[in-house]
Amino acid sequence: MSGNVLENNRDVNYIHRETCRICGSKQLYKFLELGPTPLANSFLREDQLKGKEDYYPLDMYFCRKCHLVQLSDIVNPEVMFKDYPYITGTSKPMQKHFFGLAKEVIHEFNIDKNDLIVDIGSNDGTLLQNFSNHGISTLGVEPASNISKLAEQKGISTINRFFNEECAKEIRNEFGPAKAITATNVFAHADDLNGILHGVDALLSDDGIFVVEVPYLLNLLINVEFDTVYHEHLSYFSLHPLIWLFHNYRMDIVNVKQIPVHGGSLRIFIKRAKSIISSSSNIFLQQEKNYNIDSLATYDNFSKNVKSVKYELVELLRKLKGKGKIISGYGATAKGNTLLNYCKIGPGILDYISDTTPFKQGRYTPGMHIPVVSENEFHANPPDYALLLAWNYAKDILIKEREYQSKGGRFIMPIPEPHIIWELISGE
Ligand code: TMP
Repeated sequence: MSGNVLENNRDVNYIHRETCRICGSKQLYKFLELGPTPLANSFLREDQLKGKEDYYPLDMYFCRKCHLVQLSDIVNPEVMFKDYPYITGTSKPMQKHFFGLAKEVIHEFNIDKNDLIVDIGSNDGTLLQNFSNHGISTLGVEPASNISKLAEQKGISTINRFFNEECAKEIRNEFGPAKAITATNVFAHADDLNGILHGVDALLSDDGIFVVEVPYLLNLLINVEFDTVYHEHLSYFSLHPLIWLFHNYRMDIVNVKQIPVHGGSLRIFIKRAKSIISSSSNIFLQQEKNYNIDSLATYDNFSKNVKSVKYELVELLRKLKGKGKIISGYGATAKGNTLLNYCKIGPGILDYISDTTPFKQGRYTPGMHIPVVSENEFHANPPDYALLLAWNYAKDILIKEREYQSKGGRFIMPIPEPHIIWELISGE
């Protein structure tokens, strides 16, 4: 079904699906409406400020059959991912994260120099570089042309396309089966999860390992991380629907662990059925059961918590503004744009947002049109308060910005309950 015209009678380039993307059920329960909202990464140049922006519905649904939490309004991926501003290698914490992931995969699964590693959604090749440094053959598959070029420049072979069965078969024909396939923070972005699984099934060697990382729904619910909801993130996973998905391809989760990235994620190791399975899945399933992850009341309660964050955050910022305080945003994150648009926090409240990404500097945030500046400007012109829009890096930022705080500047944490961070933390 074609997307409805939301604003100004233009075709807005999205589809609305009526069925769950994993199990196909029509039993979808809408529990939160955040939109209409512009795309979270569509930062604007000054000359675009007067033009019309495209807004798309941002509503969350729960599948009563397989328990997948998801968006049903899907913006054309060509629009979202063709020229993508998120570059993994620019984030020190993510570099560290991928170094650790590669080390774990190489050691746990005895990867050697004759093996092929394929990374789905390989971005600028930051993860693959760690395998390549050990002399292991690597291949990236990345739909964003600007970013796959960056990977190629670093010497990481990258195919510029979406990963699916056809792509997988071509890779296998040319390079042979993959001993390991990785997909970190990719599942959340894909409407056609079954297409990815068909591809993995076609490419993975019989004894191969498939490693998936997904932000964990339980963290999102408990910490009220509603700002991580934006059009790029189509699914929000607990373990339950993933087990359903892998079983359809005769694959089992052999191990699962919690990792800290993206507000709390799961690292899941999958093998073809008949492998040795650890009991780790049961621990997570039990935890999900204890949290009533299958109950509509859980999602209604989350929706109530989201509304409280909005009310309390706007109250706090208005009170500070009323006292003549200068407030900025710290990190022009995609999730920041969900938060700012939902709470209607604009340039009347935040003077600017500082960000380390050159592409974003000099631009304006989608919807709210707050100017994005460099970190140098933040240091040259420090605000009284800085709203931590990059809260997933809170610890690193609080350590990095100790001087700002020691001179009296304070960070504001927006979730799970908006509050000012008064204590200085120590550490390296
Ligand atoms: P991410 O949450 O999608 O990784 O995006 C993080 C954004 O925050 C990215 O635009 C860079 C920015 N950022 C800063 O500006 N300063 C920092 O210290 C960190 C860690 C991130």
